[in-house]
Amino acid sequence: MPSKKADPFHWDSLVRLTHWGVAAACVGNLWLNEAGEEWHEWLGYTAMTLIGLRLVWGLSFAKGHARLRALIPSRADFRQQAVALHERTPATPGHHGSGKLAVWALWLTILATAGSGWFQNTELGFELGADDWHLWCTWALQGLIALHLTALAFTSWRQRSNLVARMLPSVRGKRAQQAPASQDQHS
Ligand code: HEM
Ligand code: HEM
Repeated sequence: MPSKKADPFHWDSLVRLTHWGVAAACVGNLWLNEAGEEWHEWLGYTAMTLIGLRLVWGLSFAKGHARLRALIPSRADFRQQAVALHERTPATPGHHGSGKLAVWALWLTILATAGSGWFQNTELGFELGADDWHLWCTWALQGLIALHLTALAFTSWRQRSNLVARMLPSVRGKRAQQAPASQDQHS
């Protein structure tokens, strides 16, 4: 049976920070605050800024699977995904093909939601009925979030790998760094 220990991959700190920041902003604006409140607007702009930061990171200093080029899905990614889910092999680093598509869909929908939220507050946006666009975007976003969480749970179960742990700080890495220091103290 595949071992969970075969999955030491973690997303880098900036990917984790922007992910949880964007997720918190979406949860706040979709389900916690009142539409049109000042902090609703600020959370929307914060989500936009964090996605902007993530995109610049993906184009500049990010390594390996976090680079934007690595997020463009290929036919091989989808074939590999089908085989991995069928054979239940442990998750390999990075996203599956459908995961890569989902990342772009989430980013674009969040940007469109925040953009239409801003636009409906302008004179032209008001005349064009941009409040309807904002509403449609929020429905699309809720659908994508539901799909995101379902796909994560399904993939984690099929591949017997905890994908959520890869979006959290690496505890094992910290322990490994701390171990020599504590051994030194005992010697
Ligand atoms: C992540 C970004 C955002 C999300 C998820 C979001 C979500 C929502 C939701 C769920 C509603 C209630 C829709 C309804 O039931 O009518 C709403 C309304 C509203 N949002 Fe946003 N929003 C975001 C960004 C923004 C931004 C950046 C602004 C303005 C700068 C904004 C301004 C408004 C306004 C004025 C309303 C009230 C619209 C109305 O009642 O007709 N939103 N938003
Ligand atoms: C509620 C709003 C959420 C949004 C908008 C969202 C959005 C995203 C986006 C855009 C990515 C790609 C990250 C990147 O490459 O920078 C991602 C990945 C990921 N998200 Fe979320 N997320 C949300 C909630 C959650 C929650 C609640 C969890 C955990 C329970 C979660 C776990 C993950 C994981 C584990 C990945 C990496 C998947 C993989 O390893 O292939 N997300 N999410």
